[in-house]
Amino acid sequence: MNSEPNRLVSRRGLLRAGASLVLAAALTPPSARAAPPTEYRLVAAHARARLGGLDRLETDVWTYNGKVPGSVVRLHQGEPARLIVENRLDQETTVHWHGIRLPNAMDGVPGLTQPPIKPGESFVYEFTPPDAGTFWYHPHANSLEQLGRGLAGAVIVEERESVAVDRDLLWLLCDWRLTDRGEIASRFGNRMEAAMSGRVGNTVTLNGRASEAEPFRAGERVRLRLVNASLARIMALRFEGHRPTVIAIDGQPCDPHEPEHGRILLGPAMRVDIVLNLEGEPGRRYDVVDDFYAGLSYRLTQIAYDSRPPIRGRFLDPSIELPRNPLPEPELALAERHTLTLQGGMMSMAGTAGMGGMMGGGGSMMGMGRDAVWSINGMSMAGDGHAGMEPALALKRGRSVVLELRNESAWWHPMHFHGHSLRVLSRNGKPVPHSQWQDTVLMAPKDAVEVAFVADNPGDWMLHCHVMDHQMSGMMTVLRVA
Ligand code: C2O
Ligand code: CU
Repeated sequence: MNSEPNRLVSRRGLLRAGASLVLAAALTPPSARAAPPTEYRLVAAHARARLGGLDRLETDVWTYNGKVPGSVVRLHQGEPARLIVENRLDQETTVHWHGIRLPNAMDGVPGLTQPPIKPGESFVYEFTPPDAGTFWYHPHANSLEQLGRGLAGAVIVEERESVAVDRDLLWLLCDWRLTDRGEIASRFGNRMEAAMSGRVGNTVTLNGRASEAEPFRAGERVRLRLVNASLARIMALRFEGHRPTVIAIDGQPCDPHEPEHGRILLGPAMRVDIVLNLEGEPGRRYDVVDDFYAGLSYRLTQIAYDSRPPIRGRFLDPSIELPRNPLPEPELALAERHTLTLQGGMMSMAGTAGMGGMMGGGGSMMGMGRDAVWSINGMSMAGDGHAGMEPALALKRGRSVVLELRNESAWWHPMHFHGHSLRVLSRNGKPVPHSQWQDTVLMAPKDAVEVAFVADNPGDWMLHCHVMDHQMSGMMTVLRVA
């Protein structure tokens, strides 16, 4: 394998590739020229990081380009991208570009959409992102451990026209389980955890380190892209003293709105873009708190104002309407309807069908391995993806589809659909406000959620819970669009 240093290849750099190309470029008027691809090289390799902060212990991590999170991949809406992934781990990997509507062969699911990338080998992902927004990338092989050891990064697909904010910030949030000695606790795939809420850790990092404070200036209007790259931790963020406005969910613009009860709910793999008006007092600090788990709230960071006076006399409107992405609108009246029922997990307070229900049903647990504790429509597919997975649903290309997702378990599940974005129609019979599209639908225990989409992207697409232990232990299936 080549051993050149990690590098980012700029779009301009590619233009220097040979005299004939330069000559051709000179002869073609700029408007008629297709943009050269934006190119990144991502090297998956071991490294060390100080997750607790600069004065803290070093941790062995698995990284893209030596960093946690991995390099931010910045792409442009409607322009081609070329992403070279080199595997310097000692096990197979792939990269999934979470939330991007791309051709099936570029989706990064081992066995299902590509052969895994062997140690020492590379794979080139090429696609043109149709949607602007906040996305992310992570492995889809040995996912629980590879993601849990740090392999994750953000993909920002920029809008064609820039959005009028003072700063555009990314907070990639990640949950780790560290030992006293600062190492990542081993024993991934604990069966008891898998049957409950998954591997929730003990240290949350913001862009790769535990954060004391993030610097802001009074009067600013910032766009903040929140990404939850945790294995299992669900977050509910409150910005004390501030009123964030949600402008996009899972990369897709929504009607700008203030979150319910002022809490931004962020399941694993979800993204929420907010606009924050910095209305606090210069020199003061305000807590950002995650209080999702009752009794376990903690301070994620603080909004720390410097002492300078506000940059403007009057606040700008935080309700920025992002331009909509070119999503096909499902025709509800003509849609096919299907149900996906989620079952399994430890029986808990609520007295569910739980394991009992799963183990019964004589032969209906097709494909259920020894380790399966979860199922979708009575079938359990475990692991990361493999060849020959039978689809739970086969959809005709171009059809509008309404899916009812029923969570019959007593646990939360962020359900992720590959290859499509879904319009969320209703939750427990009530229409969902603010016109929202998602690729990862967070389901509370016993929730029933209706989603709709046009099955316009051909291929076999993974559909799974993004609590990684749940996926690995059966909460996964395939949607076929043909
Ligand atoms: Cu973010 Cu199938 O995954
Ligand atoms: Cu789940």
